[in-house]
Amino acid sequence: MPETTPLHIAVLAAGKGTRMRSRLPKVLQSLAGRPLLDHVLQRVAPLEADALHVVVSHEQERVRAAFAEHVPALDWIDQGEPRGTGHAVYQALQHIPDHARVLVTYGDVPRIPVADLEACARGTGVTVLAAQVPDPTGYGRLILDPAGQLERIVEHKEATSGERAVDLINTGVLAAPAGDLRGWLASCEPDPAGPREWYLTDIVAVARGQGRVIDVVRSSDPVAVLGVNDREQLAVQERLHQAEQCSRMMRDGLAVADPARLDVRGVLKFGHDCSIDVNVVIEGTVTLADDVYIGPGCVLRDCEIGSGTQVAAHSVLEGVRIGEGANVGPFARLRPGTELGPGARVGNFVEIKNATLGPGAKANHLTYVGDASVGAGANLGAGTITCNYDGANKHRTEIGERAFIGSNTALVAPIRIGDDATVGAGSTLSDDVDPRALALTRARPRVIQDWPRPKKKSD
Ligand code: UD1
Ligand code: MG
Repeated sequence: MPETTPLHIAVLAAGKGTRMRSRLPKVLQSLAGRPLLDHVLQRVAPLEADALHVVVSHEQERVRAAFAEHVPALDWIDQGEPRGTGHAVYQALQHIPDHARVLVTYGDVPRIPVADLEACARGTGVTVLAAQVPDPTGYGRLILDPAGQLERIVEHKEATSGERAVDLINTGVLAAPAGDLRGWLASCEPDPAGPREWYLTDIVAVARGQGRVIDVVRSSDPVAVLGVNDREQLAVQERLHQAEQCSRMMRDGLAVADPARLDVRGVLKFGHDCSIDVNVVIEGTVTLADDVYIGPGCVLRDCEIGSGTQVAAHSVLEGVRIGEGANVGPFARLRPGTELGPGARVGNFVEIKNATLGPGAKANHLTYVGDASVGAGANLGAGTITCNYDGANKHRTEIGERAFIGSNTALVAPIRIGDDATVGAGSTLSDDVDPRALALTRARPRVIQDWPRPKKKSD
């Protein structure tokens, strides 16, 4: 291929995805937290194509909207009423110059190996990506001549039983010179009013009839190229994706208790000697510094966690920044806007939202801290509640350094508790407390000695 031959990639994504039985277009179904089409676009990116065409039809507004910000910009092609893969490629060819090389791939093959795409793009004639699979049911079969050259592709439903025994299948990925492809496709268009779809695969026999030799590239990963048609296949690809990703992270030094029980649906960055226990889900971007431990059953979304911090079992953290050497959980819920200083401790059944805990501050049990700042070394006793919401607006609570809040206390915001102040257990406070003062609201107990308990009346 001369240096000047431009490469155009056409991603076919117009199918309905009926077998998913979903209201969501298939290419928007999620694999590792991102749409299938996003994975495909990531896989084609290293080829640095001169243009990226995406053929859409069904629910195309939703698909286009999901990728409106994509860089490089995508050339959306409306297929209209989909009439088959040949029709889809023919529509894309309206936007592709004859001297370009076209690489066709599918929007529902999210783990297509980059090496396979590159092998097809490199050729100069017609190149078909094939895979040898144990169960070829449903796929187009590659029919070779006695010399081992590709003669034609027959679709499963049109194949004879002898042809169905062939286990070399068409993955659907194909590359060819644009001008040739346009001509071949035009010559195999079926009657638009007829029942037969317009098959891209029919061009093989046409090209061969013109004396062309078709290159067959065998996929480096026959499982990945099978793609996703239903939810079971989606789950298979998800597991394979997670396993691959986990191997990579372990090679980079992450300790993972069980690679089959860690799901990263986003990006996990980590320093030295971080360790992740079983059944952990990571979403968005999560950054762990050195020596961080994440306990079993934790869910972390968009978090930054400082060195030496331990997050114990079944804690759920979202939009959180934690300093060094902090302890969280078990059973803690940290919501967006939570910042914990170094050495802070947050224990079981504690919920924190839009609040800062200073260095060494503690909320060890059964506490709600919302819209608050808690000074360094302060201690919130069990059952401390910041009453931040008056039914209409949210208000802030400010708790000073080394303040001590006794158990079962309601702090009605807006309120300030000064440095070194103490609040007695069981108090409900709505006025500020000065530094070093003791505040408590506690009814004096009434004690009646030798009180005669009521007795059950006899009938
Ligand atoms: C196709 C191939 C088959 C191959 C299989 C691999 C043809 C005729 N058959 O069959 O040889 O083994 O893929 O998975 O090409 N699409 C459009 N517009 C259409 C029809 C389809 O954009 O009008 C898109 C779909 O969204 C999908 C892809 O093309 O991403 C493949 O279409 P699908 O209907 O799944 O083709 P298969 O019957 O699986
Ligand atoms: Mg298919």
